Amino acid sequence: MDLLFESKGRIRFKGTKRHLPQCIIIGVRKCGTRALLVFLNLHSHIQVAQEEVHFFDKDDNYDMGLEWYRKKMPYSFPNQVTVEKSPAYFITPEVPGRIYHMNSSAKLIVIFRDPTTRVISDYAQILDNKKAKGKAEDWPKFEDIVMNDDGSINTEYKAVRISIYHRHLRRWLEVFDLNQIHIVDGDKLITDPVSEISKIETFLGLDHQISEENLFFDRRKGFYCMRNKTEEKCLNETKGRKHPDIDDGVLKKLQNFFVPHNRKLFKMIGRKFDWPE
Ligand code: A3P
Repeated sequence: MDLLFESKGRIRFKGTKRHLPQCIIIGVRKCGTRALLVFLNLHSHIQVAQEEVHFFDKDDNYDMGLEWYRKKMPYSFPNQVTVEKSPAYFITPEVPGRIYHMNSSAKLIVIFRDPTTRVISDYAQILDNKKAKGKAEDWPKFEDIVMNDDGSINTEYKAVRISIYHRHLRRWLEVFDLNQIHIVDGDKLITDPVSEISKIETFLGLDHQISEENLFFDRRKGFYCMRNKTEEKCLNETKGRKHPDIDDGVLKKLQNFFVPHNRKLFKMIGRKFDWPE
């Protein structure tokens, strides 16, 4: 294949261009969005933007215009699908309309995970960030941040609000058809990634390439990792963190809190997940 040489010594294949994404992973944060993106990138007909671009959710970026966005995309051949992921899209009210305006037939992917586990994962990430800045001492315990003094769930806590999936998804369904949004089971992506990825290959109209040969369970990591002819690679240590131990009573209350919300989601999407009832 012919190579083109660009400024700063960058090379690219002849016949490739930067394309606006035809497929966007819109969220949800801490549900496995990175694993999804890097696993999809194993497919020869997919090119992914490695960084979260935050084009549609940050006004400053959006104001830069579509050409700015396109230039953030990787080079791809005309028969490849460009995929971008920015999990903040899912919860930002302006985003569905903005994506529709760019491409009304865009393919969207959303990944859900047990909402209680997602809150804990979100908390664990913020706690780690605080630790890195030496500020974890004053950071509240999970039980204190998630519960109000009267024993109710603190719905002001952003991590809880993000996990009320139906409230966010409703806005997307005001703009897009449900069949334009492929829903990934994030808990299953952890235990059986090949079958979840296979469904996405179908959704994108691509052949089935990603198999147990590319993805293998790594006992040390405790998650699936990637393999090609020359190397094996797992996601970095910020993915698959150890979660803090949570008081059983608080855990149960949180799970109960989500039950009616989960039911609304299941009704909305015509599908159930195996989450605590
Ligand atoms: P935890 O770190 O809490 O376990 P996101 O990429 O959206 O931030 O999601 C992070 C979550 O992806 C991790 O949360 C982890 O459980 C999940 N995940 C799914 N598959 C994974 C994999 N193969 N390797 C690492 N993490 C994975």
